[in-house]
Amino acid sequence: MTRRKRTLSGIKPTGQPHLGNYLGMLKPALALQATHDTHYFIADYHALTTEHDPRVLRESSYELVATFAALGMDFDAHTFFRQSDVAEVTELAWILSCVTSMGLLERAHAFKDKRARNEEITHGLFSYPVLMAADILIYDADEVPVGQDQKQHLEMTRDIAQRFNHIFGETFVIPEARIEEAVATVPGLDGRKMSKSYGNQIPLFCTEQQLRKAVMRVVTDSRGVEEPKDPDTCNVFQIFRHFAPPARQAEWAARYRAGGMGYGEIKQATFEAINAEIQGYRARYFAIRDDTAALDAILAKGASKARVVAREVLRRARHRVGFA
Ligand code: TYM
Repeated sequence: MTRRKRTLSGIKPTGQPHLGNYLGMLKPALALQATHDTHYFIADYHALTTEHDPRVLRESSYELVATFAALGMDFDAHTFFRQSDVAEVTELAWILSCVTSMGLLERAHAFKDKRARNEEITHGLFSYPVLMAADILIYDADEVPVGQDQKQHLEMTRDIAQRFNHIFGETFVIPEARIEEAVATVPGLDGRKMSKSYGNQIPLFCTEQQLRKAVMRVVTDSRGVEEPKDPDTCNVFQIFRHFAPPARQAEWAARYRAGGMGYGEIKQATFEAINAEIQGYRARYFAIRDDTAALDAILAKGASKARVVAREVLRRARHRVGFA
């Protein structure tokens, strides 16, 4: 029997996950459980590059365990863990950093954006892509389901892996990014990429009232009810389309173009569509969220499974470079 392809992905515990995380990564990644051997993790080492409040890191990590549980991660058949529970990855990051050029890292969007804004840049932020390469390579991942914004990181991972393999001989699997083209980048309330750092997110799990309120805050233009409108440039429609089947999307797009439809109506329809999809998950989320003993048990099991793979790959890399 051929081995199932292995997927791996991570998400930072820097506050509640939002609809961008859900559509860009969580939903497609969890669907791959049916066909792949999946490895998903809480990227808390990466979160530390920006989050220096230990309570936020701890609470957000629990929120993520509960989120994966609610969305149907099978913790027995697959592997779910906290990045910092498998410290081997930091050793591999060091090894990889010794074959990674400064020039490569200087091209990273996150680094360039911060530098352009004259913000303080820590060494951790600068070397973020190296740790991310280590995350992926240490689990021999074939495919990495991510949103569009992670594409450059995946290209860097491939570059770093190829460089290492070229110098030391075939060691690492060269991974592929797996980006849901139909989703690409989910816009936030103001039309920019939905992101916690812009404060424009719609949380995945909050009360129904909070969800409705958030959807009502999506920014629209000032066209009056009677005027024809453009669904393709409307932030509300760009969220709606992810939660509505094609026939309903076409129906609402026609109503936009015909005029006579107010933005309040499509916002209400969008809220209802999101709510219909996530209400079952939300109930499961709130049922487990405060059971920290159960969440800790999930993490402990995942850590021991992940360590087995990580140690083996690290051993291979250490041997290649001449450590043992
Ligand atoms: P993070 O925590 O920023 O986001 C987690 C996932 O959500 C996706 N995403 C989006 N997708 C579509 N539209 C949006 N508005 C949107 N916002 C976020 C992201 O693309 C991501 O897939 N560097 C990673 C974490 C990480 C990682 C890894 C991922 C660390 N190591 C190894 C893959 C493999 C990050 O910051 O994701």
